[in-house]
Amino acid sequence: MSGHGEPIPMTARKSGPLKGVAEVPGDKSISHRALILGAMAVGETRVTGLLEGQDVLDTAKAMRAFGAEVTQLAPGEWSVRGVGVGGFAEPAEVIDCGNSGTGVRLIMGCMATSPITATFTGDASLRKRPMGRVTDPLALFGARAYGRQGGRLPMTIVGAAEPVPVRYTVPMPSAQVKSAVLLAGLNAPGQTVVIEKEPTRDHSERMLRGFGAEITVEDTDEGRVITLTGQPELKPQTVAVPRDPSSAAFPVCAALIVEGSDIRVPGVSQNPTRNGLYTTLVEMGADIAFENPREEGGEPVADLRVRFSALKGIEVPEARAASMIDEYPILSVVAACAEGTTVMRGVKELRVKESDRIDAMARGLEACGVRVEEEEDVLIVHGMGPGGVPGGATAKTHIDHRIAMSFLVLGLAAQKPVSVDDGSPIATSFPVFEGLMAGLGAEIVRAGA
Ligand code: S3P
Repeated sequence: MSGHGEPIPMTARKSGPLKGVAEVPGDKSISHRALILGAMAVGETRVTGLLEGQDVLDTAKAMRAFGAEVTQLAPGEWSVRGVGVGGFAEPAEVIDCGNSGTGVRLIMGCMATSPITATFTGDASLRKRPMGRVTDPLALFGARAYGRQGGRLPMTIVGAAEPVPVRYTVPMPSAQVKSAVLLAGLNAPGQTVVIEKEPTRDHSERMLRGFGAEITVEDTDEGRVITLTGQPELKPQTVAVPRDPSSAAFPVCAALIVEGSDIRVPGVSQNPTRNGLYTTLVEMGADIAFENPREEGGEPVADLRVRFSALKGIEVPEARAASMIDEYPILSVVAACAEGTTVMRGVKELRVKESDRIDAMARGLEACGVRVEEEEDVLIVHGMGPGGVPGGATAKTHIDHRIAMSFLVLGLAAQKPVSVDDGSPIATSFPVFEGLMAGLGAEIVRAGA
């Protein structure tokens, strides 16, 4: 059964000004999709800038289990020899997606319309997360799912031998569910239609188009209507993965709250379905310059220059939630270091991430002396101003990389050190976090080091 290894307790201390260049790794969402679509194309796809975090490595392993050849050529540079839409082989072993909800949900989607059976599992965090949100629409294609109570992993998916196309309105704002349905639609005849009421990250749509699928996106009164024509022959691509705005958020927010900091973070994706945090930070008074805006790998990117800023609390518009869903943990740290109150509404999806992120942030911030209010769908943080957070506590990370990195960033600006009980999950999305932060002058150490 999948585990996540020995816990690695870590501590962050108040640090001098952060300076230098933070070259963050490739985007996690795009990296998963490049491997999966590469595996569904006929011929060789080349990927550069692939995130070599554990989540993505687990997806690479899964694609091999379905018959694709996936090879690392050099650091960040990968080759995927795909088997074509409908060409997946039945895996001989259980597919272990580790910590990755994106991995397991997208892979369930892409195998659900082939006449094969696969069993999926993951670590203790992933085994708690709901899979019904993908298996419900996959059942409409004709796939069957057998899992634990509450639609939990381990779970076996029996793919549809004669899939039918589907029209599906995604009930919650979820790019994973949308993408699972689109990937399933690839091997169904006719047109599969996915409707989302609020736009979520659109990497699947962009990349499907890049691989030669016929896909249209229309904004209507119903919401965003995505229509995919099934059974295309996907053409292999060269995919240049831009740097991850969700990973960039950690050095960016650290620079904003550590006095005197001035850093550069080059080549960060500014895809409008992903950049809600940056809009929010600017509204809070952040000094961020977005330099050299350009397109890389089909995504808008910019070089960021970030300087320490006196920030004020704001009410984050609910409509922005989907475009910054992974950034609320680090935003709540920034909010704790701002003057005034920050109100985050419409955030209940945070409760079903790698951990219940509202609860994890609220408990950890309280332990650090920050006043927090919490409702099912709301997180409110009462800021203590620059240098005002007492710290001096250990936060529980609940096998959640973003909770771990958020509290370590808080420790750089708090009066007393902040520790996390387990920093090991950071390797799922940001394996170079410690070295990168140390390079900027951040004091983050492992226990006993
Ligand atoms: C992701 C979608 C989001 C996000 C996750 C990556 C993706 O999850 O939280 O980190 O790559 O599609 P949901 O679809 O559950 O919102």
